Amino acid sequence: MSTAKKQYKRVTVKSLIDMKANAEKISMLTAYDFTMAKIVDQAGVDVILVGDSASNVMAGHETTLPITLDQMIYHASGVIRGIDRSLVVVDLPFGSYQSDPKEALRSAIRIMKESGAHAIKMEGGSEIKDSTKRILKAGIPVMGHLGLTPQSIYKFGTYTVRAKEEAEAKKLKEDALLLERLGCFALVLEKVPAQLAKEVAKSLTIPVIGIGAGNGVDGQVLVLHDMLGMDHEFSPRFLRRYADLKTIMTDAFKQYNKDVKSGDFPNDKEQY
Ligand code: KIV
Repeated sequence: MSTAKKQYKRVTVKSLIDMKANAEKISMLTAYDFTMAKIVDQAGVDVILVGDSASNVMAGHETTLPITLDQMIYHASGVIRGIDRSLVVVDLPFGSYQSDPKEALRSAIRIMKESGAHAIKMEGGSEIKDSTKRILKAGIPVMGHLGLTPQSIYKFGTYTVRAKEEAEAKKLKEDALLLERLGCFALVLEKVPAQLAKEVAKSLTIPVIGIGAGNGVDGQVLVLHDMLGMDHEFSPRFLRRYADLKTIMTDAFKQYNKDVKSGDFPNDKEQY
């Protein structure tokens, strides 16, 4: 039997559901600007998430809470200009959807209209049921996000693994089924036990994309800066580093600094 996978010219929410049905794993990475998005897209990554982790890795905030809707739209617009194939999903930032469904819809519409994104992502289950329904009813695809939801960090008090206890695991399973029933096209599960994530993925027809959720799910997502090794201080167990860009970049900056100071740069060929 052939193991060839279908080539998707453009990844859509429907392609992701097909990929799950065909047992093809889904790759997702974050990106926050044109240049990075272009590289990620051309490397064949299926989904680009304009995550509110931009608040951490781009702006240097301690949490994801401070980033605004305008800032998310700015990041997403650059990403959209860089892609040809990937599906682009944008996080609704903290404070832009929690108060009521009308505000949630207004925020989602702004993202879709002003950035050209293809879908939005929201954190939470039954608590945001009405907002999720309202956005879906307007024809905007929604990706859910359960488990460790960083916008609730002050409720959790810690970035440790979620749903280790029976009650929290039960609520997570119920929320996952609810999000699928409402019409979400995919679900991110962050930092939950691998066995629980596997059970959730099995119970759903929509794809489950994990981060720190083991290998029994339908796809994986990592934060770009983390997987490129740009910050040596952040090294959770789930993170695989695919490069050591911090060292590569530091060496390049040091060499440039040395060359400028010594007068070696620019040389005769590097001038007009
Ligand atoms: O904001 C983000 O980068 C995310 C991923 C960690 C899933 O939500």
